[in-house]
Amino acid sequence: MKIDPGNFEGFNRVLTGVVVPRPIAFVSSISASGLVNLAPYSFFNAVSYDPPTIVFSSSRHAGRKAKDTLANIEETGEFVVNIVVDDIAAAMNSTAAEYPADVDEFQIAGLTAVPSEIVRAPRVAESPVNMECRLNQVVNLGKEGHQHGLVIGEIVLLHIRDDIIDGHRINHQRLKPTGRLAGNMYCYTADTYELVRPVYQPETVGEPADNA
Ligand SMILES: Cc1cc2nc3c(=O)[nH]c(=O)nc-3n(C[C@H](O)[C@H](O)[C@H](O)COP(=O)(O)O)c2cc1C
Repeated sequence: MKIDPGNFEGFNRVLTGVVVPRPIAFVSSISASGLVNLAPYSFFNAVSYDPPTIVFSSSRHAGRKAKDTLANIEETGEFVVNIVVDDIAAAMNSTAAEYPADVDEFQIAGLTAVPSEIVRAPRVAESPVNMECRLNQVVNLGKEGHQHGLVIGEIVLLHIRDDIIDGHRINHQRLKPTGRLAGNMYCYTADTYELVRPVYQPETVGEPADNA
């Protein structure tokens, strides 16, 4: 089967079903007037080391309501990405309804807002990784009515729970990041395996291996 995205009703469901599993950015932000917001975004990834850059993409509207996260970030230029782990997955899900801007999703989810050090938006205490970010730019994608804002942000401070990091090594068995599949489906990431990456050595290509 071949699918022409422009000619396939509901292509979004196919796309989010095949680009899996996705990490989930739990984005905390604050409006210029001081309203705190928290919502999950799984069109999310890290895209550059230097400058340390993450991206996530938000549709401009949920129905007729503008998405608070995108509006806040465009207003203030700041936000925090909190990584979603298994222990807070249900709490994360509880924040995903289209609540009015004056509803504090930290309260809905029973999560604790703790102050950040550089940005005004608070962090989620129960998440073991919080990335304080400054907005680089929002790239608008799509036509009026179906627009997405691709948020490009620079990490200005990363908080990580001590028991999860050893030198540069992250202990994923302790971190327990949640993966998003499609619709209401998620996955655990505890079942891991190793593949050692080959090194290209031109002088040895074609020669028999030592143990041949
Ligand atoms: C796991 C999960 C991932 C989501 N990812 C996205 C996403 O990448 N982009 C998006 O626009 N909405 C996404 N949503 C929907 C938003 O979280 C939802 O519209 C939310 O109400 C937005 O809140 P806000 O208006 O406070 O920003 C996701 C929802 C869930 C449960």
